[in-house]
Amino acid sequence: MMFSKVEKCRICGSSELTKYLDLGIMPLANSYVDPKSNEKENAFPLEVVLCSNCSLSMLSIIVSPEAMFSNYVYHSSISRTFQNHCLEMAIGVKERLGGKDGLFVLDIASNDGCLLREFRKKGFKVLGVDPAKNLAEKANKEGIATIPEFWQESVALEIIKKHGKADAITATNVFAHVDDVHGFLGNVLLALSDEGVLIIEAPYALNLIKHSEFDTIYHEHLSYFLVKPLKMLFEMNGMELRDVEEYNIHGGSIRLFATKKGNTSFAANPENIKAFLELESREKLYSAGAYFEFASKLLDIKIELLSLLSRLHKEGKMVAGYGASAKGNTMLNYCGISSDFVEFIVDETPEKQNMLYAGNHIPIYPASELEKRKPEYILILAWNFAKEIIEKTAKHQERSGKYIVPIPKMRVLSGAEEL
Ligand code: TMP
Ligand code: ZN
Repeated sequence: MMFSKVEKCRICGSSELTKYLDLGIMPLANSYVDPKSNEKENAFPLEVVLCSNCSLSMLSIIVSPEAMFSNYVYHSSISRTFQNHCLEMAIGVKERLGGKDGLFVLDIASNDGCLLREFRKKGFKVLGVDPAKNLAEKANKEGIATIPEFWQESVALEIIKKHGKADAITATNVFAHVDDVHGFLGNVLLALSDEGVLIIEAPYALNLIKHSEFDTIYHEHLSYFLVKPLKMLFEMNGMELRDVEEYNIHGGSIRLFATKKGNTSFAANPENIKAFLELESREKLYSAGAYFEFASKLLDIKIELLSLLSRLHKEGKMVAGYGASAKGNTMLNYCGISSDFVEFIVDETPEKQNMLYAGNHIPIYPASELEKRKPEYILILAWNFAKEIIEKTAKHQERSGKYIVPIPKMRVLSGAEEL
């Protein structure tokens, strides 16, 4: 399995890249290990650099996408919180597009059809594209037409031929995975109607830096976006950023609306865009200092989590993890935690169950394991869904079980009201 080194900024082309974070050599966060297999695990450097010209943060290397996305075990639909977010997005986008029925929405990296399902309910004509064959098959079975391919020119051309151009193209939680962002937008321009809108949603790097969400850094996430570099990217590709909104999902995400240049049919909100740029500037995110400060805080998180877990271990308390998410894997591997401190992890994703977490090899089970083993503490690794997970584990609370939420700061909680 191969990786390549990043020599230039993927947005502006500058080669002035400053390394500000080194998380060591890490396995692929979403590659679960079959306990029966003796295949060697791959591990790669995990470092982040900052472009001094456009302020894009990016990984210093790129692992081949085929290795990461062809069989993808992340099912968006497992989280109720995310499903609700998708429903609200469909309602919001319909309103923005004038409330008409029958508009064509194309979702790039449509996963198991989580977002398109909601668009369809709201009267849109829907089509998905996703390279994970397992997920595309699941969506197709549900009647959500999904092309099992990476987003590329041939796919865009095939779509135009069969379905015409899209009124809206959505790309949620995928843009950070893309190396050739210019090529991606070029293909969007092909498939988007002249009055259409591109809607990108991605975790906001401001939250990563301000709330120490370092565990959202893993090999799949090639870029960590601010509004400034994305605005620049749109302008370089004959597009215009029209509006930006912020949402709580995934530790804080931005939703950007962009159109072809000169398309005035979509209401713009320049004041909003200006406010985001001013905020980024005020938080000093256009120079390296803030990033080094962020990197220096991570050791404190590691020390705090390890101290807590070692104390619980000495007291004979059992700790289990909830949510075998990719970010949880960064957290555990960075802190050097294995089944000595966290005995097992539960996750509702069928493909993750009875597998081992990459690197640390902690076993993963269905949620029912909590009732069998009754740990005293649940470490919420999918902290972005902490509320949902706490609400789901009422029995754990009935026996006075506690929760550990490590991000944005270490907290030990008894219930959701303390969040
Ligand atoms: P994420 O943090 O990358 O979105 O991953 C969340 C993981 O947690 C994913 O593997 C699914 C799992 N999960 C459950 O098993 N049950 C739940 O209720 C939620 C919210 C997540
Ligand atoms: Zn740049």
